[in-house]
Amino acid sequence: MIVNFSIFILSLSIFTSSANAEATLSVSPTTLKRSGDIVNIEWSNIDSPSDLDWLGIYSPPNSSHDHFIGYKFLNVSATWKDGFGSITLPLTNLRSDYTFRIFRWTQSEIDTKHTDHDQNPLPGTKHLLAGSENVTFGNSVDKAEQIHLAFENKPNRMQVTFVAGDGEERFVRYGQAKDMLGNSAAARGIRYDREQMCNAPANTTVGWRDPGWIFHTVMKNLNPAVRNYYQIGSEAKGWSEIYSFISRDMYAQETRAFIFGDMGCATPYNTFIRTQEESKSTVKWILRDIEALGDKPSFVSHIGDISYARGYSWVWDEFFAQIEPIASKVPYHVCIGNHEYDFPAQPWKPDWAASIYGNDGGGECGVPYSLKFNMPGNSSESTGTKAPMTRNLYYSYDAGSVHFLSISTETNFLEGGTQYEFIKQDLESVNRNKTPFVVVQGHRPMYTTSNEVRDTTIRQKMLEHLEPLFVKNEVTLAMWGHVHRYERFCPISNNTCGKQWKGSPVHLVVGMGGQDWQANWAVRPNHPDLPIFPQPEESMYRTGEFGYARLVANKHKLTVSFVGNHDGEVHDTVEMLASGEVISGSKDGTKTSNSAVAPAPAWDVNSGSKDNSESPNVQTVPTSATLVGKSESDGSWVVKGVGLMVMGLVLGFVAGYFTGMKKGSSSRSRWIPVKSEEI
Ligand SMILES: [Fe+2]
Repeated sequence: MIVNFSIFILSLSIFTSSANAEATLSVSPTTLKRSGDIVNIEWSNIDSPSDLDWLGIYSPPNSSHDHFIGYKFLNVSATWKDGFGSITLPLTNLRSDYTFRIFRWTQSEIDTKHTDHDQNPLPGTKHLLAGSENVTFGNSVDKAEQIHLAFENKPNRMQVTFVAGDGEERFVRYGQAKDMLGNSAAARGIRYDREQMCNAPANTTVGWRDPGWIFHTVMKNLNPAVRNYYQIGSEAKGWSEIYSFISRDMYAQETRAFIFGDMGCATPYNTFIRTQEESKSTVKWILRDIEALGDKPSFVSHIGDISYARGYSWVWDEFFAQIEPIASKVPYHVCIGNHEYDFPAQPWKPDWAASIYGNDGGGECGVPYSLKFNMPGNSSESTGTKAPMTRNLYYSYDAGSVHFLSISTETNFLEGGTQYEFIKQDLESVNRNKTPFVVVQGHRPMYTTSNEVRDTTIRQKMLEHLEPLFVKNEVTLAMWGHVHRYERFCPISNNTCGKQWKGSPVHLVVGMGGQDWQANWAVRPNHPDLPIFPQPEESMYRTGEFGYARLVANKHKLTVSFVGNHDGEVHDTVEMLASGEVISGSKDGTKTSNSAVAPAPAWDVNSGSKDNSESPNVQTVPTSATLVGKSESDGSWVVKGVGLMVMGLVLGFVAGYFTGMKKGSSSRSRWIPVKSEEI
């Protein structure tokens, strides 16, 4: 009772002094030109500063106190204890103004039932200390942003998609010189509304923000293999800067691609869900590679779990702002993942998948995914609701010597279904003289050694229905995401290693793009004698490091290299020869291959800086976290002290990046599984 009374008196004094203080909050500049521009936020006259004082970031400005898009604690500023300080933030153009508010939050107001996705309590808004003026993007809300390219069915075309604040017609003008953008194509906008979202938080006032207008058009009659310049806008709304890309060459024999899954994006603030700081390194290294390639064409394939917006609309904007430096230069292709789609009423959810397909999409039911991207092909399925059709489900294209097929693991892929027939027909019609290699991509893996119990059944269904198609039609390589790791399998079919990819496709899990909430395969400090899972013989290499896969091919050889984010260098390589032979090896000394040949880098790019200061993936186990036998979803990873709340952004993973080594002879009975990992 005495303690409670003391807290009461302390709280009263805090609020009394707060009420009397004339806290100020100011921002500059108050007009920004485009996403990424920085504002400086300054405050002063905060009485009795507390490390729970926090800054709320709001857009639009009339959002209620609890409907911030993000927040930061004032104690990130070095001078916060003196009652003043500043924070600088890059802001993404959300097509409405921003404003900022400072609140006082107290220990007694911490509500452990009002939490973010990591079970960290969301800050309280009872005590407003100061508010700022608005920050606007002014006329820039009319400018095209979030520009991204994609292949079209015809190789002499390129699709471009972008976002603007209104629906008035825009154009893309393009040509082979910056000062000769003589071609023009009209782009018309579409949009979606809150009522078309299927569930919370996407259809609530917490998660919903106006997504603006999404524009799409096609640049046609492009000469092959040349640099094309383009610019987006209109005379009335103004024009974007000039971008460029290399057009496709259907006669080219060389292939270069960057492939990964589960990347997400970073935000400069905490928000309702975990965001992916590591994604910045992935983008950085891929940009390095694209620049090193010069005029050689390449493309990106992001195989599901794309932005991790999960119903928080503005995270999509943050994602597209982050990838624009890549996606405005090379085609950015996608597969659908559970975090774009899963919703309770999804049309295809057989009994065996009831526990697999849930609400991972945060109520988006594939709508932002379907409208914000335009992939080749014309696959679509009804959502069964008033939401628009789900698109970009399965499609294929040729690039150099490789035929790429993207599939959906989120909708019906069973024999007899529309997608199955598409896959069958597509694989059976590949011209192997033109494209001797076939690469299939999808989100949930057919093979993984991660303990994804929840997905066991779907893997069985994939093995039963899809693997025979892959084997019969001599798929070279299957690439999957969903598991946030890199793992390479032997050439495999029916869970048995083969000698060649012909009849036993190589499988790679490449879900290491940025998301981090799975426990590592590394030995844990409190159980140094026990691996989380023994590495079976068919798993040739696996690692907990983030990064991406580089794929290069010519008519004789397809090579995939794993590039690690901590140093931007190749750490594992597998080569598939047109003859069927598979050669592999790793830089880390875990040579495991069918053929004893040393690994080789995929192509010569500058190895980049050795400075890994921008690679936050190299981390250690938080000593406050308990890892054994726990999952994030059961709350065991909850940060107990509010002072550690920001740790929520890094909880859920243990890094250690050289975990590819075989773990020796652990007996199965000694495993300690990590259960119900959410992916
Ligand atoms: Fe996933």
